[in-house]
Amino acid sequence: MLKTHSCGELRGEHVGRAVTLAGWVHRRRDHGGLVFIDLRDREGITQVVCDSVTAPEAHRVASEVRNEYVLQVEGTVRRRPPGLENPSLPTGEIEVAARRVEILNPARTPPFYINEETEVAETLRLRYRYLDLRRARMQRNILLRHRIVRFIREYLSARGFVEIETPILIKSTPEGARDYIVPSRVHPGKFYALPQSPQQLKQLLMVSGFERYFQIARCFRDEDLRADRQPEFTQLDMEMSFVERDDVLQITEGLFTALVETLETETGKRLWRKPFPRLTYAEAMARYGSDKPDLRFGLELVDLSDLLAGCGFRVFAETIASGGQVKALRAPGCGSYSRRQTDELAEQAVRLGARGLISIAVQDEGQVRSPIARFLTDEEMGAVLARTEAEPGDLLLMVADQPATVAQVLGQLRLEVGRRLGLMDDGLLAFAWVLDFPLLEWNEEEGRWTAVHHPFTSALEEDWPLLETDPGRVRAQAYDVVCNGVEIGGGSIRIHQREKQERMFRALSISPEQAQAQFGHLLEAFEYGAPPHGGIAAGIDRLVMVLAGEPNMREVVAFPKTASAVDLMTDSPSEVSPRQLEELHLRLATG
Ligand code: AMO
Repeated sequence: MLKTHSCGELRGEHVGRAVTLAGWVHRRRDHGGLVFIDLRDREGITQVVCDSVTAPEAHRVASEVRNEYVLQVEGTVRRRPPGLENPSLPTGEIEVAARRVEILNPARTPPFYINEETEVAETLRLRYRYLDLRRARMQRNILLRHRIVRFIREYLSARGFVEIETPILIKSTPEGARDYIVPSRVHPGKFYALPQSPQQLKQLLMVSGFERYFQIARCFRDEDLRADRQPEFTQLDMEMSFVERDDVLQITEGLFTALVETLETETGKRLWRKPFPRLTYAEAMARYGSDKPDLRFGLELVDLSDLLAGCGFRVFAETIASGGQVKALRAPGCGSYSRRQTDELAEQAVRLGARGLISIAVQDEGQVRSPIARFLTDEEMGAVLARTEAEPGDLLLMVADQPATVAQVLGQLRLEVGRRLGLMDDGLLAFAWVLDFPLLEWNEEEGRWTAVHHPFTSALEEDWPLLETDPGRVRAQAYDVVCNGVEIGGGSIRIHQREKQERMFRALSISPEQAQAQFGHLLEAFEYGAPPHGGIAAGIDRLVMVLAGEPNMREVVAFPKTASAVDLMTDSPSEVSPRQLEELHLRLATG
């Protein structure tokens, strides 16, 4: 090694020791006869002192170096003069008196400060990602990610799980997103798909008898990107044989609990509640307007439909009569919002799909300020205030619409109000389970039922008979694990019998021929003694994001892509040569 110690490890006990350090110039301060260099490596920062009297050559070299130069320094550890210790640095008791300084490699002036946590345009950060990754925040995130993955591997291996790699070039698996496809050179006109997840492969591994599988698996989905989505991402993918739903929940919950507790001092975040609360999908939608509720705060949605069915406000009465709902969200202490502030919320509601937002500002002695006050009787208004537990000073926000729209709008406004009131405690991780998702949803565009999770998910035993008669009401043996309003993972108990899988394909309007062409291998495998099985996949990037307290997934991925799926550092995607296209039997339709 070009160094005897890291830049983070020298302490008082090392005083007098001859050491060699190597790293980057974090900062240099020139005091004439003395040059101070903060030398940085992955482990920390050590102050190096170069004295023109005792080490003139080292001093000369040190006078030349600039930020981010790579140096090797030989010297002796000594205690800093009294009063000059730096308590904010772990190495702050000592400094290294340099005998020799060698420039291992100079550096151009970086496009942004490496040694400060300043705001830098993200495009610039991504263009020079290798420099961005030198910064403290990114080093912290990437090292945390490593520890998380390592913990997962050890935890699962100790519990009988086997890590098995599955191919990246596979046959297209429908998970709801578009596939990335790869043309075959050897088979003109044919394509591989990159896996959206190893779903079918892990099920086949259960047929193979491995019983407990996991993989830190790369997945690829060509979908619209958001803060918590990347076109390629990593799953902790798991599958188990001879299990029921609760077995999968238990092993997953055990893992996340142990992980959070082990990393608590590093992340500064603790579990909100254990065991994780369990909600059904229907409950989550009704109470929080979301299938991934942020449970760090209350502010539950309140259904007022029964109270207002016959009220004098026509929009409410008519919406309820046509199968809709009127629901309210209580914003504590927001009763004094100005007209402009309530208008802002109303605009947001409209953007989210509402026709409007009705507010009631609750004042002292049961007085209210509201555009609908004169349409409601005193009894109706009294009942609304009682049901919502509104207090003087509160603001009620009401939406009337079909249930899905009400949930969408009030669910988002709940988050907005929670943010404004500072109710989302950064130190808490509110994990929870959401259970009993619907199996199918009606796809207007395709004019058929599609799987909410994926087509291999089993229905709840008691709901199977509804599959042909009332498909929309069938609940799935599917579950999501959520944390602080983020969907961390999802899974299900699978279908493991050919007849049932074929029945599911029929419900999805997939013809027997299509089923054979796309899923023949799986259907056939189910005929060779497939064990009952189920599993789950958690997004590693999302898990790290939540544990690191980062608002954007890109902060926890070493080399992420932009929202338009571009890698700014390598400038990808990019054109390929006509020769490559020809070899792949491709011709571009554009130019
Ligand atoms: P699902 O599609 O719910 O399930 O994905 C599981 C988890 O993967 C993460 N995830 C993503 N992370 C980053 N960027 C994306 N584009 C992205 N898409 C998904 C989420 C999500 O909860 N095969 C099933 C699992 C199973 O049934 O066992 C599956 O992939 O955290």
